[in-house]
Amino acid sequence: MDITRIIKEVIRKQQAYSIEEQPCRIKLDANENPYTLTPSQQNRIFEHLKTISLNRYPDPGATDLKEQFAQYFGIDEDMLMLGNGSDELIQLLLTAFDSSSSGGVVIPVPTFAMYKISAVNTGHTVIEVPLNDQFDLDLENILDTMSQNKPHLIFLSYPNNPTGNLFDSGKIEKILMQTDGLVVVDEAYVDFSGKTFLPDFNRWDNLVILRTLSKVGFAAIRLGILIGKPSLVHELNKVRLPYNLNALSQAVGLFFHEYADELQKKIDRIILSRQHLFNELTDLEGIYPYHSDSNFILFSCAHDKNRVYSELLKRGIGIKNFTSPDSLRDCFRVTVGSDEENREFLEALRKILHQ
Ligand SMILES: Cc1ncc(COP(=O)(O)O)c(C=O)c1O
Repeated sequence: MDITRIIKEVIRKQQAYSIEEQPCRIKLDANENPYTLTPSQQNRIFEHLKTISLNRYPDPGATDLKEQFAQYFGIDEDMLMLGNGSDELIQLLLTAFDSSSSGGVVIPVPTFAMYKISAVNTGHTVIEVPLNDQFDLDLENILDTMSQNKPHLIFLSYPNNPTGNLFDSGKIEKILMQTDGLVVVDEAYVDFSGKTFLPDFNRWDNLVILRTLSKVGFAAIRLGILIGKPSLVHELNKVRLPYNLNALSQAVGLFFHEYADELQKKIDRIILSRQHLFNELTDLEGIYPYHSDSNFILFSCAHDKNRVYSELLKRGIGIKNFTSPDSLRDCFRVTVGSDEENREFLEALRKILHQ
């Protein structure tokens, strides 16, 4: 029996999100934070984890964690939803929204791949609007699309992955003003941009903000945060699986606030290294980095890209190699690593370009 016959057609046509797990010494392909807590801070966390009863289900509502985050953001707890990474929250939004309505989901391209993948999986029509040549929103085109299609969801990564830049906030406000749909402003990289819509949250009825702990040094625990109106969070809670946040992640998440100062120092360091990495890339012939407000830099490469990529891999250095869409065909994305990692990457790249 061909079991795939009874799989939804949209899923059969879908490509699984491919995460290239190349074994590499220096991993600069996934926008992770190169730093982690000190060994003694980590040990404190691990000691605490020993007290967890592995035979018991976690707190289904992640009550303590929600309380901490509500205080941290200065909002009510009923405006918060925590997820198994913001990936899960993106999927929850798409599961709750009506995919049978003709409006569809608008995403600028290029952007974070999971918006489209999850939208397609949940049966939504996806309308892709190309960014302009500055990688900013093409407002006219988006407004036209909005008036023709009446989308019910618009995803905006702010700053945008993989281009690294912040979209013009005035354009986002115009979109918020003119759409009847929900605008999801994904602030996964907020710590590196310093720009957020959170202080203006109450100005808009149709704004949702996504955050994550993945980029500040806690990618392993998969903890995403959604900030939305209580009425929306109420509906989303019906779609959320019970116990979506496991007990170990909840426990580690509680340490986030305690170590916030330590984490901030590391973020400041990454921001400084980003500038240095950008300057060094600019000096290389045939390499053109784009401005970044994130913890990674997109750069185009006028050399044989496949050779550069595989030579880097041979030296144990992994970066992200884009083959699509067209606007990224010449591009790589490199995460800002530790000073030592950045130095090795630059040295290797210099050698490869001169070979
Ligand atoms: C824009 C954006 N949103 C969300 C995510 C996913 O974050 P999480 O690890 O919380 O699922 C990423 C991951 O790279 C991202 O780039």
